[in-house]
Amino acid sequence: MSEFVSREQIQEAVAFVRRRTGQQPAIGLVLGSGLSGLAEAVTSADIIPYQEIPHWPASTVPGHSGRLVVGELEGRAVLVQQGRAHFYEGYSLSQITLPVRVMIGLGISTLILTNAAGGLNPDFRAGDLMLIRDHLNLPGLAGNNPLRGPNDDEAGPRFPDMTFPYDPDLRALAASVAADEGIPLREGVYAFVGGPSFETPAELRMLRALGADAVGMSTVPTVVVARHAGIRVLGISTITNVPSMDPRPGQMTTHEEVLEVGALVVPRLTRLLHALLRRLA
Ligand code: HPA
Repeated sequence: MSEFVSREQIQEAVAFVRRRTGQQPAIGLVLGSGLSGLAEAVTSADIIPYQEIPHWPASTVPGHSGRLVVGELEGRAVLVQQGRAHFYEGYSLSQITLPVRVMIGLGISTLILTNAAGGLNPDFRAGDLMLIRDHLNLPGLAGNNPLRGPNDDEAGPRFPDMTFPYDPDLRALAASVAADEGIPLREGVYAFVGGPSFETPAELRMLRALGADAVGMSTVPTVVVARHAGIRVLGISTITNVPSMDPRPGQMTTHEEVLEVGALVVPRLTRLLHALLRRLA
């Protein structure tokens, strides 16, 4: 398989999904590690397993189920990605962003992304929710950007603006909804790293010094491709662990911990997303 996904491949995947559902989703929702339970509330659901969709990258990671759920949530036409593929699984950034390109092709105008992240801000605790205000695309700055390669000028410009990667109006709405619901919501900068190894204490200190409040292995490539196409984006991190920059002997970060805390946060995140969808114009 080529590193770069072609427009024809995207169109094949779009056509396949269109044959499997008559619904016209307006809002895309991507559910990260341990968060796929949110999709259970979707009604009139048309469910499409990833492996059936041509060119779709399947996730190999425990905690990431692989299905597209098209239906209704709070009266809104949504398309939910239950699970995602990651760069560290061996896919190219072009391949892992095929799903967002397909969502764009299906006509989505708003994208809500969730993920699990490690907390770097010393005020953060495991179990916190963080609205993503901005990001550090570390692989991207070093040349690993999902838009590297031929540009489809019909999809977006060669040099897309990234001044407001996360839509200011959507962020304000999310903050207001969280306040009304009594759900504490942090805000901060998400640093995207390649993974799959977790960060060393020196790397954590570096990321903090660079202005990051949280660190994770997903989301940012999808945001870059969505912004390229002019889609409005909202991102919410669940802080699943707070790795130590000055560890005691025996301290460590595990994927099990990430999944466990992620599951604990699901009810609160679900409540926030439901309330947000009700208020989304
Ligand atoms: N580091 C990177 N990615 C993560 C972490 C972390 O500590 N927790 C959840 N995703």
